[in-house]
Amino acid sequence: MPFWAPNPKAHRSPMKVARAARPSTTSIVRPMQPYDGPINEESPAVSQSDTSDDEECEGCPRERVVSNSSGSKDFCVRNMKLAAFGRREIELAEHELPGLMALRRKVKAEKPLRGARVVACVHLVAQYAVLIETLIDLGAEIRACACNVMSTQNEIASALAEAGVPVFAWRGQTEVDFWWCIDKVVCGDGWQPNMILDDGGDLTHWLAKKYPSILKECRGIVEESVTGAHRLHQIAKAGRLPIPAINLNECVTKSKFDNLYTTRESVIESLKRTTDMMIGGKQALVCGYGDVGKSCCKSLQTMGAHVTVSEVDPICALQACMDGFKIVKVSEVIRTIDLVITATGNKRVITRENMDRMKSGAVLCNMGHSDNEIDVASLKTPELIWERVRSQVDYVNWPDGRRLVLLAEGRVLNQNCSSLPSFVLSITCAAEVVALIELYSAPAGKYKNEVYLLPKRLDEFVALLHLESFDARLTELTDEQVRYMGLQRTGPFKSANYRY
Ligand SMILES: NC(=O)c1ccc[n+]([C@@H]2O[C@H](COP(=O)([O-])OP(=O)(O)OC[C@H]3O[C@@H](n4cnc5c(N)ncnc54)[C@H](O)[C@@H]3O)[C@@H](O)[C@H]2O)c1
Repeated sequence: MPFWAPNPKAHRSPMKVARAARPSTTSIVRPMQPYDGPINEESPAVSQSDTSDDEECEGCPRERVVSNSSGSKDFCVRNMKLAAFGRREIELAEHELPGLMALRRKVKAEKPLRGARVVACVHLVAQYAVLIETLIDLGAEIRACACNVMSTQNEIASALAEAGVPVFAWRGQTEVDFWWCIDKVVCGDGWQPNMILDDGGDLTHWLAKKYPSILKECRGIVEESVTGAHRLHQIAKAGRLPIPAINLNECVTKSKFDNLYTTRESVIESLKRTTDMMIGGKQALVCGYGDVGKSCCKSLQTMGAHVTVSEVDPICALQACMDGFKIVKVSEVIRTIDLVITATGNKRVITRENMDRMKSGAVLCNMGHSDNEIDVASLKTPELIWERVRSQVDYVNWPDGRRLVLLAEGRVLNQNCSSLPSFVLSITCAAEVVALIELYSAPAGKYKNEVYLLPKRLDEFVALLHLESFDARLTELTDEQVRYMGLQRTGPFKSANYRY
């Protein structure tokens, strides 16, 4: 039986998992692009502690040679003294990552990744450390670097290095550091990867540019981000993708959980942390009623805000109406609005003209991927005075005495201003492990050099792993129902295009 085939009884047995919360604040900066390819434009889907600054270890880690307690020098991190602290952080994260821990228990003995040499470019934070150690538990060798110059928790990188993982990452990398670390993980001493785990497409891009023969020898790519997946699709469309890839970003267990539940949990926290604002009674405008917009609306409504929505798509607009939200044009209501949240994935949804008409003290922020949903560039004119009042909070002052409160300079609010729920990352990370196993163990020819989604049965398996921590009892189909519905007892339970 393949590892993913759910044993209904075993997977439905109850198991309670303790929860741990780790509030924190993150600030993301992106490096410049040294080459013409992508660099990770995603902000990290992770929380992080502010333990990274360490005056003792100023200067560039690349210029120091350090060993761990076993004598290995095959890593580069900021400060090995943080390793014990990092280990505690990893242990804390394990409690809220039940899917990964369940995978360890269920398939560790089989070692489905024996022989896999995974090169990983991910956020080097506690949750992804648990992912890395899960891959090792399942038999893989792994070398890891950071996919974002500011997202590394230095203590986590040190803990991994102390545990013998070749990790090349620290918080506050320069552009040169960033690509140097990628190069170090690709080429260990006599080590060559045969699997790629990427978040943002930079690692894949580097391999394609500098080491095309190594890339060609790999069995597959698992890509987590919108940006990286978009790039893979472009390459595949041009017929230049040399190996199969799984676009994890659009898999159900990522898209239907991250977009909805991460947002729902973090939008209010971000607003509270940055502004201390009372949300009840405020006039809120949410632009976009996709998954992210829906969650924002729901959270704001729960807090007692009067929520209105702007949309371009009649289907989403109708959904909003039937959920009880008024659909409005931005220009017609903007004068009365206390709080604007953009969540469209589009650009210039809030223009300078709109902002010129907003009332003083109104709060503006963006939950979408890019920082151009609010036309922040248009606010950088001589007559407007910017005042940094707190981390991630700017007053933009108009000559007539009005001011707007701009959060995170228009970048993704929750990823810059709040912690993100580990449990949602457990779902994403478990899907990543399962995708790596699938590509690694697939018989030759099963996957062509194209971009795939996770097979439905594996999405269902990832969900099943997490049901245990809710003590959820799934109903099993009877024989009669199996025949009536034309399904298999163990799934898949839906067709490939079911939208959940
Ligand atoms: N902050 C987070 O945690 C988080 C999580 C997931 C995704 N995202 C990002 O949030 C954005 C939205 O994601 P989604 O999954 O909801 O996308 P989506 O495509 O489901 O929804 C976006 C909606 O915005 C609407 N829209 C487009 N242009 C508009 C305009 N000018 N005015 C009003 N509405 C407009 C679209 O019709 C669509 O319904 C994306 O950029 C995505 O990358 C953020």
